[in-house]
Amino acid sequence: MNKPMPELIQEQTEQFNAWVSKMQAHTEYVLDQHLPAETVVPTRLHEAMRYSALGGGKRVRALLSYAVGEFCHAKLEKLDAPAAAVELIHAFSLVHDDMPCMDDDDLRRGKPSTHKQYGEALALLVGDALQSLAFQLISQDKALKNGQKIKMLHVLALASGSRGMAGGQAIDLESMGIPLSREELEQMHIHKTGALIRAAALMGAYATDTPNQDKVKAVDHFAKAIGLAFQVVDDILDTEADTATLGKTAGKDAKDNKSTYVTTLGLSAAKELANELHANAMAALSFYGREADLLRHLASFITQRSF
Ligand code: IPE
Ligand code: IPE
Ligand code: MG
Ligand code: MG
Ligand code: MG
Repeated sequence: MNKPMPELIQEQTEQFNAWVSKMQAHTEYVLDQHLPAETVVPTRLHEAMRYSALGGGKRVRALLSYAVGEFCHAKLEKLDAPAAAVELIHAFSLVHDDMPCMDDDDLRRGKPSTHKQYGEALALLVGDALQSLAFQLISQDKALKNGQKIKMLHVLALASGSRGMAGGQAIDLESMGIPLSREELEQMHIHKTGALIRAAALMGAYATDTPNQDKVKAVDHFAKAIGLAFQVVDDILDTEADTATLGKTAGKDAKDNKSTYVTTLGLSAAKELANELHANAMAALSFYGREADLLRHLASFITQRSF
């Protein structure tokens, strides 16, 4: 006999939650294996790199690489390097984002920010070194073919640089105190956050020997929508959640006179937009059945998160 619908939904949610916990732990393990030990010279830099990259974070970008990899039938061993690499770039971006010359936040992932713990100069170098390590991991990986590595390195480099995350961060800094239009805000968010999320997804597809082009297109549309949704929700949480839940200082955007989706559209329209982007992400997968369920669950995980 078929199970009743609510039972089925609960079972699927439990399975997804178990997958998230498993893959978060796996990501932590892969990162731990690749980050130089604290006993390796220069010991303080390595200690600070491990402090910044390990023991926290939702690992959404790695989860996306693994979920897309599964959707495209990539082998798990080929996904470890891109998943860890995108988390290293993300960790680097957070270390620099928190520095006094940028957002000046003393708290990250529930701990003192890297510059609070290790000083500004070392925090700068932590960011540099995490970024380099990301590219090193992909380039030296034994499971990936050279062609796959080049595609991954290219997409990750583009997403991290002046036409991606760093460029979006530059727009963010320039626009402090200057109200942005909805279009300008979208451009900022697509670059500072969306680009890396899109790269995480595409690298998952590139880990297959011959990626199905229809699936790659669907994944790209999905990731564009969910990448923007991710930052819309980050803006909402900054106004709605508390510091203890976020693990970073709540209410900072308003205090710093930042243009966000909440300041530009208002809270309820920002929430509507997050739902709309979630629906767009789902629509990108409409051609696919159960095989896309992991991505569907991940989309909800991103838009319904509480931190
Ligand atoms: C925070 O990202 C910074 C943004 C790009 C909005 P996350 O919310 O993914 O941070 P962690 O990795 O879970 O700490
Ligand atoms: C940061 O955006 C985006 C990055 C590239 C790190 P935010 O400045 O809003 O991220 P949080 O809120 O500090 O995590
Ligand atoms: Mg910022
Ligand atoms: Mg910030
Ligand atoms: Mg924020």
